[in-house]
Amino acid sequence: MIHNWLHNTWQQIHLTANPLVDSAATTAAQQVTCPAGASSMTNVGYLVAAVLFILGIKGLTHPRTAVRGNQLGAVGMLIAVLVVLLVDGRVSWPLAIVGMLLGGTAGVWLANRVQMTQMPQLVALFNGFGGIASALVAGAEVLRGSASDVAVAGVAAGLTGLIGSVTFSGSLVAAGKLHELPQFKRPWSFPKQQWVSAALLLIGLLLCWMMRDGSGTEFIPLVLLALALGVLLVTPIGGADMPVVIALLNSYSGLAAAAAGFVIGNNVLIIAGSLVGASGLILTNIMCRAMNRSLAHVLFAKLEATGAAADADEVYSGKIKQTSADEVAMLLDGVQRVVMVPGYGLAVAQAQHVVRELANLLEAAGVTVEYAIHPVAGRMPGHMNVLLAEADVPYDQLKEMDEINPTFAQCDVAIVIGANDVVNPVANTDPTSPIAGMPILNVHEARTVIMIKRSLSPGFAGIPNPLFAADNCLMLFGDGKQALMELVSALKDN
Ligand code: TAP
Repeated sequence: MIHNWLHNTWQQIHLTANPLVDSAATTAAQQVTCPAGASSMTNVGYLVAAVLFILGIKGLTHPRTAVRGNQLGAVGMLIAVLVVLLVDGRVSWPLAIVGMLLGGTAGVWLANRVQMTQMPQLVALFNGFGGIASALVAGAEVLRGSASDVAVAGVAAGLTGLIGSVTFSGSLVAAGKLHELPQFKRPWSFPKQQWVSAALLLIGLLLCWMMRDGSGTEFIPLVLLALALGVLLVTPIGGADMPVVIALLNSYSGLAAAAAGFVIGNNVLIIAGSLVGASGLILTNIMCRAMNRSLAHVLFAKLEATGAAADADEVYSGKIKQTSADEVAMLLDGVQRVVMVPGYGLAVAQAQHVVRELANLLEAAGVTVEYAIHPVAGRMPGHMNVLLAEADVPYDQLKEMDEINPTFAQCDVAIVIGANDVVNPVANTDPTSPIAGMPILNVHEARTVIMIKRSLSPGFAGIPNPLFAADNCLMLFGDGKQALMELVSALKDN
């Protein structure tokens, strides 16, 4: 009833605004796919939504415009949803309401429960659920057999099932790795695994092709095969390469949505899916460059290439110099340039505001303060930028790796807060290390390095860091926020 009322009202508004569309609305195609008169309004709505998505993505390219970009994208999505619900007319309202209630409740529950540091796992799950949702929509449509072009819808449904299911199971494994679950943390593979994966992929593509008859009988075997393929593709990938995998799975979820758009003939789904797919691929490329890896290396590198990590005792024994907040405060007296190096531990400690407070104190004393941002510091793209923006750190003080690296030799003190892998010189010296070849922040070149962390535990890649034992490195052990608060009060007392 609500739907009929809304639909009739919308049609009246629409027909008053554009009576010419009424004649076009009588075509048979429109009678099949959507209510009379609604088609052109639907497409105008979708066009507006698509333009907002593009402007939104453009806004996300810079921290200064990111919030506006996010808002534009959200408005675009709201318009797309309203157009489907109010104009398109193919929606069952009770089902839509039940779906929104279920999804909304799960969203509120997750938003209240998930810690900021668990966001990357949540993003991985979002990618996965996006993929499987597309697969289910496509599967339902093809099994219902309502498509006008059976061959196109059949093959598109097959591709949606294949990509969406790979995204789902691959993302679950990725979320397990990011959550550092012991079952997933270590890369795992068996002999000739890559051949098995390649064979599964070929069979999957063959099943997609067979689906052009529109019967849909191949769909369920295809989904099962793709679920296995997703697991096999992600389990062998090591922790340090996870940024690339997450970006790639994000792209897959977009491709699955775009393919589902072809199945149900929904333009905005095709556009939004393509945007997510393309931007995910660009992000994958950026992440590959940040890790100095080719995509093929991440996806197909043999595990044997990774050597056994050096023994931590051997690296650290007798060489660690511990310091205190008071000593560091004295050291900072009279320095000219300090570089803050944030990492995942900053996010865990939620120390972004106290870092800013420390920087304010130093700047008031005439010290130049900058922040060195490594592209894969933390657990998600832009993690450090988001944290520091939360504390209103001026954007011009955030220096990208390529910009800041040549200047570390002129840095009096580098304060590393909860960063480990991204400052590990082993990346340059040990070709068998899991992070071999990954560009690092050259903090070891600073005159003095203060390393703030709770212990000598390794970072995400699970390897010791010889920087801790270097002559110019002092360890300030403790929780990042607590240690910085002590440092701030020691500086104030000085
Ligand atoms: P990590 O190498 O993971 O090191 C983080 C360090 O923070 C740990 O050694 C830990 O040592 C310390 N820490 C944890 N809690 C802390 C707290 N409360 N206070 C102070 N220190 C704390 O971090 P990173 O240098 O930022 O490197 C990121 C790693 O994650 C890379 O290997 C990267 O490949 C991987 N990764 C990145 C992404 C993206 S997209 N950025 C996604 C997935 C994986 P203690 O336990 O001793 O305190």
